[in-house]
Amino acid sequence: MPLVNTTEMFKKAYEGGYAIGAFNVNNMEIIQGITEACHELRAPVILQVSAGARKYANHTYLTKLVEAAVLLDPELPIALHLDHGPSFELCKDCIDGGFTSVMFDGSSKPYEENVEEARRVAEYAHKYNVTVEAELGQLAGIEDEVSVDEDKAHFTDPDQVEDFVKRTGVDSLAIAIGTSHGAYKFKPGQKPQLRFDILEEVSRRLPGFPIVLHGASSVVPQFVEEINLYGGSMPDAIGIPEEMLRQAATMAVCKINIDSDLRLAMTASVRKYLAQNPTHFDPRQYLGPARTAIKEMVEHKINTVLGCAGKA
Ligand code: G3H
Ligand code: 13P
Ligand code: ZN
Repeated sequence: MPLVNTTEMFKKAYEGGYAIGAFNVNNMEIIQGITEACHELRAPVILQVSAGARKYANHTYLTKLVEAAVLLDPELPIALHLDHGPSFELCKDCIDGGFTSVMFDGSSKPYEENVEEARRVAEYAHKYNVTVEAELGQLAGIEDEVSVDEDKAHFTDPDQVEDFVKRTGVDSLAIAIGTSHGAYKFKPGQKPQLRFDILEEVSRRLPGFPIVLHGASSVVPQFVEEINLYGGSMPDAIGIPEEMLRQAATMAVCKINIDSDLRLAMTASVRKYLAQNPTHFDPRQYLGPARTAIKEMVEHKINTVLGCAGKA
C-alpha cells in the first residue's frame, strides 16, 4: 500500500471510537521508532512534518525516510502530513512533493482570511486526493515558526464551525479546548481541564466530522524526572492527563497530535545514556536506546490513549 490520505483512517476511527496518533518526525530514529511500534501493534499512523522539521531535515530526506518505512511494511496505513502549514504556498509545496495530507493553520488570522486560504488549500489539495486539516480557535504554546502567548489563546467558538467547514471544504478541524503546545501546559497547582462541552457542541454541529487535538502530550512524569536526574532542568513540566485524551478519542476526536512526549522520551534516554557511559562517543550507542524509547512511548500511547491497536 502506498502512503494513504486520512479519509479512511478517520472514518473508521470515528465509527470505532478511537483516534489515530499523529507523531512529529524530524529524523531517521524518530521515524523508525514510531513505525516499528505501529508495525508491531498493527496501528495506522500519521507521520507529521512541521515547517521547522522540513527546514531542519530537508523535504527530500524526510519523504525518502518515510518511503522506506512504507517499503518495510506495505500493509500498514501511513499518512504523511504537513503540521501547521502557515501558507498556501507551503501546503502546495508539500502536496506537490508527495504528502498525502496537509494542515493549513490560519488560526491566528482574521476569520475571513482563514476561510479564504483554507478554501484555496482544500481546492488545490483535493485535485490530488490530499486531505486537509484546518484550525479554529487558538492554542497557547510555542512551535518553531509560531509562538502564541497565553493571553492571545482562545477556545474554539462552536458558532463558527459549520460555516467554516461548509465554506472551506476541509476534511478535518483542529479545535482549541484547553490543550496547548509544549511541555508546560498548566501552572503548578492548576487543575488540568479540557472543555469537553465545547467538543460535544462542535460534534453536535458537525455530525460524523473528524476533530483534531493539537498539544496533546501528557508530559509523562517519568521522563521529566529522568531528564532532571541526569543534568536537565525542566521544573514544573505538566501535560494533559491521559484519561482525558482517552475520553476525547472515544468522542469525535480522530487525530491526536503528539510531539513533546517523543522529545522528552528521546532526551531522557540520551541524557541517561551519556551520564552513565561518559567514555562512549559513538552516536549509535546513544541513538539506539533513544529510538527504543520513542518506540516504547508510541506503544504506550497506542495502548492507553489512542485505542488504535489492531486497526490497520
Ligand atoms: O505543534 C508543533 C510541533 O510540536 C512541531 O514543533 O515547529 O518545533 O517542529 P516545531
Ligand atoms: P505537544 O507539544 O503537546 O506534543 O503537541 C504537538 C502538536 O500539536 C503538533 O502539532
Ligand atoms: Zn500542533
